[in-house]
Amino acid sequence: MKASLILDPDFQVSDVDPRLFGGFAEHLGRHIYEGIYEPGHPTADANGFRRDVLDLVRELRMPVMRYPGGNFVSGYNWEDGVGPVDQRPRKLDLAWKTTEPNTFGTNEFINWCRKVGTAPMLAVNLGTRGPAEARDLVEYCNHPGGTALSDLRKQHGFAKPHAVKLWCLGNEMDGPWQTGAKTATEYGRIAAEAAKVMRWVDPSIELVACGSSSRGMATFGKWELEVLDHAFDHVDYLSLHTYYSNADNDTPSFLARPEAMGEFIEETAALCDAVAASKKSRKRIHLSFDEWNVWFHSHGDREKRRIKDWDEAPPLLEDIYTMEDALVVGGMLIALLNYADRVKIGCIAQVVNVIAPIMTAKGGPAWRQTIFYPFLHASHHGRGKVLRPVVVSPTYDCKEREQTPFLTSSSVLNDDGGLTVFAVNRSLDEPLDLNLDLRSFPTLAPAEHLILDHADLKASNTEKKPETVKPRLARNLPKPVERGFRARLPKASWNVLRFARTARK
Ligand code: AHR
Repeated sequence: MKASLILDPDFQVSDVDPRLFGGFAEHLGRHIYEGIYEPGHPTADANGFRRDVLDLVRELRMPVMRYPGGNFVSGYNWEDGVGPVDQRPRKLDLAWKTTEPNTFGTNEFINWCRKVGTAPMLAVNLGTRGPAEARDLVEYCNHPGGTALSDLRKQHGFAKPHAVKLWCLGNEMDGPWQTGAKTATEYGRIAAEAAKVMRWVDPSIELVACGSSSRGMATFGKWELEVLDHAFDHVDYLSLHTYYSNADNDTPSFLARPEAMGEFIEETAALCDAVAASKKSRKRIHLSFDEWNVWFHSHGDREKRRIKDWDEAPPLLEDIYTMEDALVVGGMLIALLNYADRVKIGCIAQVVNVIAPIMTAKGGPAWRQTIFYPFLHASHHGRGKVLRPVVVSPTYDCKEREQTPFLTSSSVLNDDGGLTVFAVNRSLDEPLDLNLDLRSFPTLAPAEHLILDHADLKASNTEKKPETVKPRLARNLPKPVERGFRARLPKASWNVLRFARTARK
């Protein structure tokens, strides 16, 4: 099979906001406890942070990290997680039916972020709480001093403000599973009022309002319009969340799912712009895709693994990812890049142990799941300007959609003048010969072709065999052809084609 891309540096979608490659860390299962924080672990530092995990998270170069939830935040009292650890209360977490020891909280998270080299993105509780507690948290974190809350932070060992710039106004507030779920009117009002007072405390912050918790919600569309009708003037971003599943083991349909992510982004952007039009405003609400991933392997685990209610840090949502999941995650990264004009923040959900690219064993090693690799590649090589290509690809029909292109790709003009093409060949049977017409790039030459594939699409990485699925270099670099290069994309593969600038021809 053959496919082609014509690329021209003048045809651009947008600059990539580096925050597209963010992560999400929730108090859920073993993400915090035994994941990023395990005092007593052989690699633990003086703060109890696992150094092996710190290294793997750093490797992903995530510019932003959302915390502390997720569903958890809607019942969380941030005050329980600050101050002397031995005085912090143990609490029931109703979202995940676990016990929260509160030995890790906001200040530990900020410390951990500094060690990772990432910026915190804090969510406030708009489920059981409201504008007053949200305002208090901004004051505790960001006010320089001279007030009870900012001085309390100092007393807790943080003389300088945390300077948290990015704030989420609650989480998935339309979901009946959410503690303190709200109607669009209720949420729109409380989001607007919380945003107002949070910004009065610190005018430099940016705010994310909750969109629908998924495109499949019956209220999707109406929710966005109503929430923004109230909160439009007070917020900067609207959130989107999406998880894809292959529970029915229909791989061609599963691989096609990232196409729906692009449609979801288009629809949400249209809804934001409709509100702008109704308000006669040129302001553009940008999008924060702050939960996205594959999630289905662990469904039913609570029963299967006999996890008891109110256990502390039980193994929840521990999806073991396969090769085909990595192809879908690659497709989702491609979708995010191709809509970089509207999506400014992205957070893979989540980062460690809980539907995550990184896994840990208690007291033991940490390792990379299959999905680690497409994220790593996109985060390292996906920065710059996304190009708008002319694409020709053969297509296939599957249960979910007709005419799915076998090729899904995104091309980024990197800041060093190089070019990176990310491409997934969704064919389960044949390689795809990709013709790259680089007629307007006379100085580019192939530098690297990385491939992630495996003979078994269900192959995964485990504690005992952590390197079953890992990237390899293509045997040959793309071949020169008229006006460009040709690369062979193996069947069912994720590819990173890198071109570097050479002396002018
Ligand atoms: O990421 C897991 C959960 O998925 C989050 O807590 C919630 O926001 C979403 O439903």
